[in-house]
Amino acid sequence: MIARKKTFDFDVNFKEAMSFYRSFGFCVFRNIYKKNNFEPIFKKIEQITNSQLDNLITSKDFKKKQSIDKKIVFLQKKNDLFRKNLYDVMQGFPETTNLGLNKKIYKVAKFLNIKVPILRTSQIRMDLPKDRRFLIPPHQEVKGIRSPNMIFFISAMRDINNNMGSLNLSPGSFLLNSLMPKTSDKNKYQFVDKKIYKKYPLIFFPLLAGETILLNMNTIHGSRSNISQKIRWSSIVRIEDAQSMPHLIKLDSSFIEKYDLKG
Ligand SMILES: [Fe+2]
Repeated sequence: MIARKKTFDFDVNFKEAMSFYRSFGFCVFRNIYKKNNFEPIFKKIEQITNSQLDNLITSKDFKKKQSIDKKIVFLQKKNDLFRKNLYDVMQGFPETTNLGLNKKIYKVAKFLNIKVPILRTSQIRMDLPKDRRFLIPPHQEVKGIRSPNMIFFISAMRDINNNMGSLNLSPGSFLLNSLMPKTSDKNKYQFVDKKIYKKYPLIFFPLLAGETILLNMNTIHGSRSNISQKIRWSSIVRIEDAQSMPHLIKLDSSFIEKYDLKG
């Protein structure tokens, strides 16, 4: 049985973290990001939301006193397209890309034998309270991935407690290698059949702002419902290996197609 929550300081316990990762297919880091790395992003989001509020309400108090989360929820209730449009726009902030350019990410990639690292995605996730539409059931990070040597990083941009839908993750499950996903009419997204990973139970991982979970692409993980009043803010960075891409090296795209079923 592993420690439910063991956090490694990137600057102090890097090697220890890597050996934990090799055993369990994940590890939790502090200090890849500093809390304030996310502030310029929140500042821009606040700027955008405030300008939308100017068009809608006259109360200056609401603008001044309410949190950014409350403002977004308010605007989303007025028009659901706001959530979607804001989400799309956030992905284009230079600061969002910058999160994926952090040197420490590439130190991990090098250590884990990723020969030619490619920044596949650097994105921000915004999970609104009680919005279940985008929750992904337990899955491996195989859909749309071009390299069987991929790692990814999920970071908390604000504290994420269990009520906010902390990440569900199954330590050791990467040992099952890439599995064929399942689909069902009930689920919008593909998932891994529960029976297959009985040996590797899912555990919740609440995070403090600035903490990062590094995951092996085959580690089973899923998102949980945010039943709090706050937005769950996280960033996801995916790193592929261009030296391990069958479609590029052997012109064989079966790896990409095999796991791309739904969602
Ligand atoms: Fe995922």
